[in-house]
Amino acid sequence: MKATETMDIAEKETLLAEAENFIRTYGREWGEPQADTERRWVEVQREIEATGTYTHTCAELEHGARMAWRHANRCIGRLFWKGLHVFDARGADSEADVFAALERHIEYATNGGEIRTAITIFKPARDGKAQVRIWNHQLLRYAGYASEEGVVGDPASAAFTQVCQRLGWRGEGTPFDLLPLVVQVREGEPRLSPLPEGLAREVPLAHPTCDLFHGFPVKWYAVPIISDMGLEIGGILYTAAPFNGWYMGTEIGARNLADDARYGLLPLVARNLGLDTGTNASLWKDRALVELNVAVLHSFRRDGVSIVDHHTAAQQFSTFRRNEEREGRETTGRWSWLIPPLSPATTDIFHSRFEDRELSPKYVYQQAPYL
Ligand code: ARG
Repeated sequence: MKATETMDIAEKETLLAEAENFIRTYGREWGEPQADTERRWVEVQREIEATGTYTHTCAELEHGARMAWRHANRCIGRLFWKGLHVFDARGADSEADVFAALERHIEYATNGGEIRTAITIFKPARDGKAQVRIWNHQLLRYAGYASEEGVVGDPASAAFTQVCQRLGWRGEGTPFDLLPLVVQVREGEPRLSPLPEGLAREVPLAHPTCDLFHGFPVKWYAVPIISDMGLEIGGILYTAAPFNGWYMGTEIGARNLADDARYGLLPLVARNLGLDTGTNASLWKDRALVELNVAVLHSFRRDGVSIVDHHTAAQQFSTFRRNEEREGRETTGRWSWLIPPLSPATTDIFHSRFEDRELSPKYVYQQAPYL
């Protein structure tokens, strides 16, 4: 027997095992009659024998995506996993279809500011090859232009911004230029599409009582839509499955705008607050952080855009853990990601321990297609 055939057999065994595990867990959680589960399992086995893969039903796809959220060890927002809205975009077959589905996702999720959690699931990988990939890290994100004096915009986007420029895109050059969508279908060239005017909701930031930014207009987009992770359900890998929640304030105020390697606004904010930045002991960084986070929460609320503060999010996570316990499931988690970056010890997450075990279905990192 040739080596490749041996590998195929091993791969098929793995797929069968993962599929069986998922089909049975799905049946159990869904309260499906045992006979229906057995019938479905036979059907899946036949499809795998005949074609080397199998096709999830819409209900399996929906529940699988929700389970993957429930299993997301780094996510503090898992209380809402059952409410994830699933768009089945497995029929999208061209770049135009994919762009249309992505625009529909942004529109649905934004919902005039009352953000709805959603995922759009495209065709899964076939024979280990992606059929659809989204090159963006998030559907909405700001460009980062490398220059002599450092990066203008978001340094986290510097490499991807160059990719967009190579594909012919030219941004305005402001620190807050929304990047275009870049998608790839099968082995084709990546295609680029600027976001339609008015589709992406943004929130200009202001502090309720102080002039934090003093002439430097700061804003952030309303919806974080992760678009570069894969979704694995029952041995099937969906390589394009953008999903969103709503923001927790600290993601913007204590990381995106604050980190040295991102917008690095703490010195500016501290100076505008009149703090002594000459000594660590004035706690200027801490005080600037707090006011920056006040500005984020205040501005989103003012504009009627959903956002959660980290204290409330931590309480919601406790409720999630209690719910899971009631269902007889252990909550796995990654402590270093679950604690908020601001005042972590004020939340009970800080005082808890979690097992960082990976359960399936799950969201997985993927190698960036342009690296
Ligand atoms: N931390 C990322 C950002 O600031 C978003 C990650 C997902 N966040 C969420 N609230 N669902 O853009």
